[in-house]
Amino acid sequence: MDPVFQPQALARAIDAIVRAGGSEPREARLVADNLVLANLLGHDSHGVGMIPRYVSALLEGGLSVNRHPEVRLDAATLLALDGCQGYGQAIGLEAMELAIERARRHGSCVMTLANVHHLGRIGHWAEMAVAQGLISIHFANVISHARVAAHGGADARFGTNPLCIGIPLPGEAPFLLDMATSAVAQGKMRVAHNKGDKVAPGLLIDERGRPSDDPRYAVVPPLGAILPFGGHKGYGIALACELLGGALSGGGTWHYGESSKQRVLNGMLAIVIDPSRLDGGGRFGSESRLFLDWLRRSPVAPGFDKLLIAGEPERETRARRSREGIPLDRTTWAEILEAGTKLKVEEQTLQQLAEGR
Ligand SMILES: NC(=O)c1ccc[n+]([C@@H]2O[C@H](COP(=O)([O-])OP(=O)(O)OC[C@H]3O[C@@H](n4cnc5c(N)ncnc54)[C@H](O)[C@@H]3O)[C@@H](O)[C@H]2O)c1
Repeated sequence: MDPVFQPQALARAIDAIVRAGGSEPREARLVADNLVLANLLGHDSHGVGMIPRYVSALLEGGLSVNRHPEVRLDAATLLALDGCQGYGQAIGLEAMELAIERARRHGSCVMTLANVHHLGRIGHWAEMAVAQGLISIHFANVISHARVAAHGGADARFGTNPLCIGIPLPGEAPFLLDMATSAVAQGKMRVAHNKGDKVAPGLLIDERGRPSDDPRYAVVPPLGAILPFGGHKGYGIALACELLGGALSGGGTWHYGESSKQRVLNGMLAIVIDPSRLDGGGRFGSESRLFLDWLRRSPVAPGFDKLLIAGEPERETRARRSREGIPLDRTTWAEILEAGTKLKVEEQTLQQLAEGR
């Protein structure tokens, strides 16, 4: 049986590992809470299963603890920040606090954030802005390993480059579109591979560019590639993420052969907008309401239970996992315990913390 953990207890175990890596208590808590929240929302690919990778990055010097963003440009509504290879969970928070403050003051903020270690779920950052009534749009690239093929290409050339759009909605939880531009997130391939599962057709190619349903081709050599979502259209958005998140931020684009480095750096362009400043006639809220009511009167197509909007699946999973706990596959949990021992945290200690003992 796979273990099931209560969120707070699991966060305490992760917190212990991050602290053992040298992080101050605030940073360790931010990292642990952010990863556990990703699991709670159903995105196990961006949850506590990332910890072994973070520990390896830390030990090889690709991830720096207790860093703060450095301001490269500060020109009212334009901000250019460098994340100094620091934990994305801490750097992302401070960067978004700056962008949100600018958007509230001036009506908008265009921020680039370069060279930050893994930002986790990009939706986390949009949620911060949306919680304050702001719209938040994010294009990010990934400097780690090439895992995604060009539309029409037979090998991997770039990362899973996420796109996120958060929009506050009147009288209900926000629209939160938060997605990899690959047909499936890389971490979901890792989770499927750890579980020994096959994946749906149309997501992957093998090392010779042929279609495959074996997630190993995205995880262990000989590597194939994940395909972009939506053919040439998703491929186009993935490239926009590379150009805006990577080139424009100055964090860099992916143009390397296979790398053995474990660090995962992100570059991100964030555009934060105060809708109340653009919306002179006050129609943003009422038109959003009219559209959503119209949309939800759509009959449900065969094979579907109901019509959802982006953000709702995660909120449903959160409600369920908050009640029932977070299931982790045994391979992932064993890898987390092993990562702890690399930082001299005993397995027994982690087991006890995670079980709430
Ligand atoms: N930091 C990084 O380097 C990085 C890289 C890639 C992805 N990510 C993150 O990975 C996470 C997972 O991405 P993903 O592409 O696997 O997500 P996904 O495919 O599970 O969901 C994508 C979006 O579709 C929405 N959605 C899902 N089912 C729906 C339905 N039936 N109707 C309407 N909307 C629906 C979701 O709410 C979500 O906004 C995201 O949080 C993303 O930011 C991060």
